[in-house]
Amino acid sequence: MPATLVVGGFFGDEGKGKIVSHITSSLQPTIIARGGVGPNAGHTVVIGDITYKLRLIPSGFHFESARLLIGPGVLVNPAVLRKELEVTKVDHRLGIDYQCGIIEPQHIERDTKDKHLREKVGTSGSGCGPANEDRAKRILKLAKEIPELSDFLTDVPGELHEALDKGETVLVEGSQATYLSLFHGTYPFVTSKDTTAGQLLADVGIGPKHVDDVIIVFKAYVTRVGEGPLKNELSPEEIQKRGWEEHGTVTGRLRRAAPFDFDLAKRSVKLNSATKIAVTKLDKVFPETKGVTRKEDLSQRAVEFLEQIEEETGIPVWLVGTGPKSSETLHFREE
Ligand code: GTP
Ligand code: IMP
Ligand code: MG
Repeated sequence: MPATLVVGGFFGDEGKGKIVSHITSSLQPTIIARGGVGPNAGHTVVIGDITYKLRLIPSGFHFESARLLIGPGVLVNPAVLRKELEVTKVDHRLGIDYQCGIIEPQHIERDTKDKHLREKVGTSGSGCGPANEDRAKRILKLAKEIPELSDFLTDVPGELHEALDKGETVLVEGSQATYLSLFHGTYPFVTSKDTTAGQLLADVGIGPKHVDDVIIVFKAYVTRVGEGPLKNELSPEEIQKRGWEEHGTVTGRLRRAAPFDFDLAKRSVKLNSATKIAVTKLDKVFPETKGVTRKEDLSQRAVEFLEQIEEETGIPVWLVGTGPKSSETLHFREE
């Protein structure tokens, strides 16, 4: 059962990009498949001194032997994809499903001009909501109708099943996160689709029996962009004082922040059937952990925090991020 899934546990931007990029070398996947909504996501991947901001290309792109696929549930904006290909140069390894929905300029215009979407929901303005609206109406264009994409078109579920039948490992990467789910999130302050592990499987076309691990990513504090409830939200001054200031990858908006929420984490583990936890940004809550790569070098209070997460959720903390670089990661528990 060699499929591993990576999902977000809070409101997005937990650092899924970094975790995906880090685990590729140990997992050795033959395929990295991107699920999730579409280019409303912004994943940051830092390899050496280079920072990549990715909205569509899978975050494990630098793992050179892997085929990179975008599942039929994911919306594609050809202009965004073109720019990312210029930077990542992975054209020869990329496959886009025939049935991916296409975001056109009119969808972006509708997303940014609609008062409800812009002001009440506070969307990313990337056109995803209006494109999914058109998909539900069955009037959205699909990738197979777009000449610019013809070289990349493929049957993503078909490729995944061929790999799974051979016993190869596939890594499925989600975007957004549990509480942005249209069904399980803080409606109406959510995205235009479900975002939990069940949906992620549907996004790429594989069923639950193939799943080996569901890695849920939590940041060591909670952030949220856009509108909607955030328990124990801190003031902008307090966010700055704690050094928790972040700006959205796609929109540049200041991310709202609050301390780690154990109740949200517990529920999220259940909603996703998560098997392992990755905690990112430990260094921002416990600065003495910055750059630490061995469990033995963590401070006692940081260990206690991680153990509390394990106790409350009932599953192990497997990976811990101590800095933005893919290499600034440690294994808190062995596999
Ligand atoms: P979405 O799919 O948009 O939800 O994004 P994401 O989960 O991939 O996260 P995103 O890259 O938007 O935000 C995470 C931010 O935290 C980025 O700036 C990362 O470089 C940074 N980051 C990730 N892990 C760590 C860590 O362990 N420590 C520090 N200091 N920064 C980290
Ligand atoms: P939309 O997905 O652009 O329609 O935005 C709906 C809500 O989800 C807004 O609050 C966005 O800020 C939020 N959102 C969508 N994608 C992401 C993401 O990748 N990270 C964080 N928030 C997101
Ligand atoms: Mg992001």
